[in-house]
This record gives sequence, structure tokens and C-alpha cells, in this order.
Amino acid sequence: MKTIMVYKSNSGYVKKYADMISSELKCDIREGSKVSLDQLKNYDIIIFGGGLYAVGINGIKLLKNNIDSLVDKKIVVFASGASPFREEVYDEVINKNFTLEQQELIKFFYLRGGFDFKKLKLRHKVVMKGMKMHLSKKDELTEDEAGMLAAFDKPVDFTSKENAQELIDYVKSIRGF
Ligand SMILES: Cc1cc2nc3c(=O)[nH]c(=O)nc-3n(C[C@H](O)[C@H](O)[C@H](O)COP(=O)(O)O)c2cc1C
Repeated sequence: MKTIMVYKSNSGYVKKYADMISSELKCDIREGSKVSLDQLKNYDIIIFGGGLYAVGINGIKLLKNNIDSLVDKKIVVFASGASPFREEVYDEVINKNFTLEQQELIKFFYLRGGFDFKKLKLRHKVVMKGMKMHLSKKDELTEDEAGMLAAFDKPVDFTSKENAQELIDYVKSIRGF
């Protein structure tokens, strides 16, 4: 089955997963802004990956706006955030980004990314500086908040082949190899 990996990545974590996945599945790979609906229609399996920004999946409109034209495709989506994987994170992301109807058509994975302040776009730097200030002022921090605060000084990268393996195995299983 013809497979394509499409991704949107701001600071490179999603791209790392996209490269891993496309190389493992030996499939085409395109950056999200460089692919058209007509091109997507040539594939049987569409994998889309995007970073999480305020729980929204970067670039997911490409699929959501065109979902009616893609109902005969197998669609696999992954989102990468800095948060560790948890059932609540998975549920929040899937429910915020997809209607129940869309969830029926999409197989969704959460693959933990990373955080590197220096690589952020200016507008994201501004937002995250505000977050840093807010966290610095708190008396008590949760483990996630403490980890996030530390990551401002020392970039973190949680990407791994192990994280991507379940998605890779899933696509192999629907292709039959
Ligand atoms: C403005 C902003 C908002 C973010 N919001 C979230 C979020 O809601 N949940 C999360 O887990 N990570 C969040 N992150 C972290 C990114 O999702 C993480 O760095 C991800 O790996 C980015 O992937 P990319 O660089 O490939 O786009 C946010 C980062 C920025 C800069």
C-alpha cells in the first residue's frame, strides 16, 4: 500500500520522528506545506505528524479540512509534545483536535518530543518567556512543571525509536508487512 509521511515541525523533534518513520517504512516523506490534497489522494496510507502547541496539533488542518476527500484512506496521526505520555494527555489531545466522527477515521499516537528555547520562533519565545516567569514565581511545582522550567536552561530531547515503534508496527500491520 502506497504510504506517505507528512509532517510539520518547528524546532525539529517531529521531523526526527518523521525521518525515522519514513526510513523504517521506506515511504515518501513531505513537509506539510509542500503537499497538496491531489498529491495525498495518490496514497493509501497517510501518516501525519505535528508538534503540540497549546494542545493543538501543528498543521492538522491539512487533514481536517480535507477529511471528506480522504475517507477511503488509512489515516495515522501522531502529535509530539514536551509532556510525558499519559492517558490523560492522550485523551485531551485527541478530544481537543478531533470530533468523535474524525476519531473513527484516524489512528492516533502521542510520541513525546522535546523542548529547545533557542530554536523557537519569536512569537513562541514570547509566550514561553511568560510561562517561565509564571512557573518561577510558583511556590510549589509539579514534577512536569519543574521539568519544564529546567528545560529553559538545558534543552531536552525525548525522541526515540522506541517511542515510534508502536506506530511503525501498526502501519506495517495494516500494509501486511
Ligand atoms: C508556544 C508553545 C506551546 C506548547 N504547548 C505544548 C502543549 O500544549 N503540550 C505539550 O506537551 N507541549 C507543548 N509545547 C512543546 C512542544 O510541543 C514540543 O517542543 C514539541 O516537541 C515541538 O515539536 P516541533 O519542534 O517538531 O514542532 C509547546 C511549545 C511551545 C513553544
